[in-house]
Amino acid sequence: MATKRLAKRIGVMTGGGDCPGLNAVIRGVVHASKRRGWDVLGIEDATEGLVDLDFKKPHGNRWLTCQDVDRILGRGGTILGTSNRSDPFRYVVRGDDGSSREEDVSRKVVENYHKLGLDALVSIGGDGSMRIAQKFIEKGLKIVGVPKTIDQDLNGTDYTFGYHTAVQTVTDAIDRIQDTAESHDRIMVIEVMGRDAGWIALQAAIAGGAHACLIPEIPYHIDPVIDMITQRELIGHPFAVVIVAEGAKPMGGGQSFAGARQLGATQRLLGAGAKFAASIELQVSHEVRVLVLGHLQRGGSPNEFDRVLGTRYGVHAVQLIEDEKFGHMVSLRTPNMGSVPIAEAVKEPRLVDPKGQLVHAAREVGIVFGDEPRA
Ligand code: F6P
Repeated sequence: MATKRLAKRIGVMTGGGDCPGLNAVIRGVVHASKRRGWDVLGIEDATEGLVDLDFKKPHGNRWLTCQDVDRILGRGGTILGTSNRSDPFRYVVRGDDGSSREEDVSRKVVENYHKLGLDALVSIGGDGSMRIAQKFIEKGLKIVGVPKTIDQDLNGTDYTFGYHTAVQTVTDAIDRIQDTAESHDRIMVIEVMGRDAGWIALQAAIAGGAHACLIPEIPYHIDPVIDMITQRELIGHPFAVVIVAEGAKPMGGGQSFAGARQLGATQRLLGAGAKFAASIELQVSHEVRVLVLGHLQRGGSPNEFDRVLGTRYGVHAVQLIEDEKFGHMVSLRTPNMGSVPIAEAVKEPRLVDPKGQLVHAAREVGIVFGDEPRA
């Protein structure tokens, strides 16, 4: 009679853009696994370490002990490394002639998963990583997901971890910019991340007391923003702070990109702030300056919320494996931890509701979105 192997061997990897709290999740996974007597293989640089088992940049795949994850709770980034251009279904390979092309190498990942003797895999990532995970689930791999992203654009959970810390970073930036905007009577435009979702922009605009907020979900016209600037001048406040989400677009116009899409990657959003600034510059008497916060929003130590959320996510991911709830993503339904099928979480992106309470609250405190017609 075949005996059931009780000890498990699980893999853990971090995919997509990094964000604060990744190490807290890894630590949670390792501790909860060790309590069950399981082994945890840290996979390097998202799926890179599964496409090629010899991949080393700089460590390679490695077995993780509780000592390895000691003191990483408050560290930004990920001790495992990550990548947002390593989708095995459109992997960048170099031909003999030196040219590059995208190829489906997913078969290698499936083979290597079995070669490593893994019983399950914890995939920590955003919508892109969850979509990749779903395709591997359909190929028979046992995967549980952990929702990560500063963008907060993943459905099925109250919060993705990393979002709150990123919003705090942007809020701190707005506070500082307010000081210098006021001193110089300038219009300061801050471009923030978030891809097609305006969560970071909106939440930080409210928290930082910004005067206008342009988000992808509400295409903008410059007139209401210029009116707001004029109004502020009249009351003796000749300065303003405008938050522009990187995915924001003018009415009838498109999003701003940093060139063409690169192989293996998603087309990079950049320039929405500059585009908006250029469109108002000649219509206001102030100097207009643009600040792109960029990757500052992804780095740094996770705040208390993301440390606790990350820890709970990691621990619960192990619980899902124990319960054999594969194909599920851990999910916070405050105050409880639960799970949702990954397929459900990635069906639709989670976007700001232009008619929702958060936008309403922002409007009530005078934040202009650029969509209200001139009075
Ligand atoms: O998804 C997270 C995110 O930070 C987005 O907000 C942003 O558009 C993108 O990643 C930037 O990615 P990269 O690190 O490739 O510039």
